[in-house]
Amino acid sequence: MISLSRFLAPGLVALMVVFSLPLQAAEQIDLRKSLGLTPAEKAEFLAEMQQMLGSIQGVIQGIALDDRDMIIKAARYSGNRMARATPDSVRAKLDDEFKSIGGPTHLMFEELVIRAETDPKEDLLQFTANIMNNCMTCHAKYKVD
Ligand code: HEC
Repeated sequence: MISLSRFLAPGLVALMVVFSLPLQAAEQIDLRKSLGLTPAEKAEFLAEMQQMLGSIQGVIQGIALDDRDMIIKAARYSGNRMARATPDSVRAKLDDEFKSIGGPTHLMFEELVIRAETDPKEDLLQFTANIMNNCMTCHAKYKVD
């Protein structure tokens, strides 16, 4: 009589290989550089990120409603004030390339605050799209852990 385990063992091995493949592929595809933040730093960092998304939401909403005060308030939130608020321990872990994308992004929000006073809405929308190119560039290169 042929032992059942002779069929089961190769089957199990095949299953393990099949299920581990997507994991390996994901690790290879994710080439982003890790910032190596602690859980507390990560929570703080991601909270700032969510505020940046909130700024973008407020800016687009303001453009759609033709409410310049709303644009200004939303953009100011992610300007230099946010850059200054980054904890020193996090700042120490950010390399020059990260800073070369992050710094100008906060500055662009400051510029948007000024532009929102006078620029046509289409220009404000284009400028917001330009800001979001920085979001995209950095997200493609870095991860928190
Ligand atoms: C200089 C780098 C950099 C810039 C610029 C940047 N981000 Fe991020 N952001 C990150 C990193 C790193 C993460 C973490 C990604 C990960 O670990 O998967 C992140 C995560 C996020 C998250 C997820 C938050 C969470 O709770 O998980 C949001 C939302 C976000 N960013 C929004 C934005 C928006 C909107 C902009 C542009 C206005 C922006 N970010 C610009 C680096 C950046």
